[in-house]
Amino acid sequence: AIERALRPKRLDDYIGQQKIREQLEIFISAARKRTEALDHVLLFGPPGLGKTTLAHIVAAEMGVNLRQTSGPVLERAGDLAALLTNLEPHDVLFIDEIHRLSPVVEEILYPALEDFQIDIMIGEGPAARSVKLDLPPFTLVGATTRAGMLTNPLRDRFGIVSRLEFYTPDELGTIVSRSSGLLNVDIDDAGALEIARRARGTPRIANRLLRRVRDYAEVRADGHISAAVADAALSMLDVDALGLDLMDRKLLGAVLEKFGGGPVGLDNLAAAIGESTDTIEDVLEPYLIQQGYLQRTPRGRIATHAIWQHFGLTPPGREDLFG
Ligand code: ADE
Repeated sequence: AIERALRPKRLDDYIGQQKIREQLEIFISAARKRTEALDHVLLFGPPGLGKTTLAHIVAAEMGVNLRQTSGPVLERAGDLAALLTNLEPHDVLFIDEIHRLSPVVEEILYPALEDFQIDIMIGEGPAARSVKLDLPPFTLVGATTRAGMLTNPLRDRFGIVSRLEFYTPDELGTIVSRSSGLLNVDIDDAGALEIARRARGTPRIANRLLRRVRDYAEVRADGHISAAVADAALSMLDVDALGLDLMDRKLLGAVLEKFGGGPVGLDNLAAAIGESTDTIEDVLEPYLIQQGYLQRTPRGRIATHAIWQHFGLTPPGREDLFG
């Protein structure tokens, strides 16, 4: 609920994702001029980068309602049909985790997306018959952590496909300052930037760290968040100088110490640290790969030199360089 209070409500308040913002502004403005529903939008990228926020912003900018559901929640065809038949013209239907739709639900979705029609079965056995229903024109906004997990026919039905990128420290610093204003937190620019630098490129993490650093500042300092206070608080929270948390270090530590720096296959790595392969691929790896700490190769994951150095360890066979 507190998270929601920090979410920007309009495109103008949204910081970062410059390219997506610019494209959405044009497509929304054009759809509004033609009094049409916006084309279907697929948002993909790691958790916490603002997919849900953008879905709400699309609805607000279009001046329509947003109905929200998620792939795993839609168990039967009727669940989706009920939602679709209750939409008003140009409404936004937001389906989070859209890669987890069941095949029967996905089948219903295809004609709904393409022709604003659904075929539903009424009755059972010999008396069963199929009924075609017309839907109002609507916009599907689908969100997923990995576009590669969507079936091709589903992906092909999105006219707008946007990949969310990790935020720069400067962008996150602006977000931390904005959130501090909304939460009445006493912080200076250097304090905001210190939190931003160590938030894994992710606004959700930056806002979470901001609340914890504020707690620390109120109890262990005078309430003001300077760079020094932020640094002390983040160290206490086990967020290291690179912004890596305990889970990141557990994963990287396993690659280095149990697998000699790799290559190590995803399944072996998951077993070694007791995490699911999905969590590794969706949550942990993307940032580590983007930062150049970890490489994904056909033979498995490999730790880069930067990470050997960060852990103060020597890669095997490189004692000449590191000894
Ligand atoms: N809060 C969380 N994400 C944000 C963003 N991208 N812009 C502004 N405030 C945010």
